[in-house]
Amino acid sequence: MLLEVRDLHVEFRTRDGVARAVNGVNYGVDAGETLAVLGESGSGKSVTAQAIMGILDIPPGRITGGEILFQGRDLLKLKEEERRKVRGAEMAMIFQDALSSLNPVLSVGDQLGEMFVVHRGMSKKDARARAVELMDRVRIPGAGARVRDYPHQFSGGMRQRIMIAMALALEPALIIADEPTTALDVTVQAQVMDLLAELQREYHMGLILITHDLGVVADVADRIVVMYAGRIVESAPVHDIYKAPAHPYTRGLLDSIPRLDQKGQELYAIKGLPPNLMHIPPGCAFNPRCPMARDVCRTDEPPLYEVSDDRGSACHFWTECLHG
Ligand SMILES: Nc1ncnc2c1ncn2[C@@H]1O[C@H](COP(=O)(O)OP(=O)(O)OP(=O)(O)O)[C@@H](O)[C@H]1O
Ligand SMILES: [Mg+2]
Repeated sequence: MLLEVRDLHVEFRTRDGVARAVNGVNYGVDAGETLAVLGESGSGKSVTAQAIMGILDIPPGRITGGEILFQGRDLLKLKEEERRKVRGAEMAMIFQDALSSLNPVLSVGDQLGEMFVVHRGMSKKDARARAVELMDRVRIPGAGARVRDYPHQFSGGMRQRIMIAMALALEPALIIADEPTTALDVTVQAQVMDLLAELQREYHMGLILITHDLGVVADVADRIVVMYAGRIVESAPVHDIYKAPAHPYTRGLLDSIPRLDQKGQELYAIKGLPPNLMHIPPGCAFNPRCPMARDVCRTDEPPLYEVSDDRGSACHFWTECLHG
């Protein structure tokens, strides 16, 4: 495994109390593999990613348990200086909002070039040439001329390509893309996602793709983990999940995708709201919203049951869900 997150716990101490954002997450990704992380807002997708990258807001955040094994080393045991090296060169992150992630007062060529100057000791001239190559690689038309432009001079889709170029620059083993296309128009979304998927294959990187968009996931992901209240509730190869979910929450997510053949019908929505992370319900955290909930669900927290050798579900009644 390239990356393995084991029993990760993260909490935030605020004036109002302790928010348990991540509660025992386990997931992994291999080189050349795409893992999609799914779940409603507030389920802990980004916080888990920030813990992996070492960019968690500490305080108020605190990692209270677990391991993050990357290429065999536990990142949580590294000194900040070693951590910074890993973050620059071996793993990179792509965020939703390129405009706030890129430096507004540096040309994109300078920003891309800086990576090569700082990490590879290149001359400014060589670094500039590499920057143009990269911009070409992410298909920015007229890269040679546009290398002097500033982030605000690019469209949203082009800026997102520049973010991808920045992430790829040092050929990291792992990329984490957190809602990389959410802010873009639908047509542009597909282009950017295709590009990311293509580069991931070509560079044989591990990719963790955080998204709300189950539609996108079907085409690009190998595996899916579904998060709820900071826990993994289902983990499976992508095709298994679409065929038959083994958790009622996954089923709810799938049923809420708009479908072309059901135009005009009211869209299904999972009833209720995600739990308050300061007061996660006992038993299964999903029980107050679950159409299948019974007494045991309100008292006993389900473990991740083994559905098959590469699939797990944290539902006491996963067999019913799978066949129902
Ligand atoms: N800086 C912070 N300070 C306090 N609490 C935080 C902070 N960052 C995250 N949290 C808590 O962690 C929870 C999970 O946040 P996270 O950003 O991981 O959600 P997410 O699954 O990425 O949601 P979204 O889909 O909206 O991006 C939040 O609901 C919040 O309670
Ligand atoms: Mg998020």
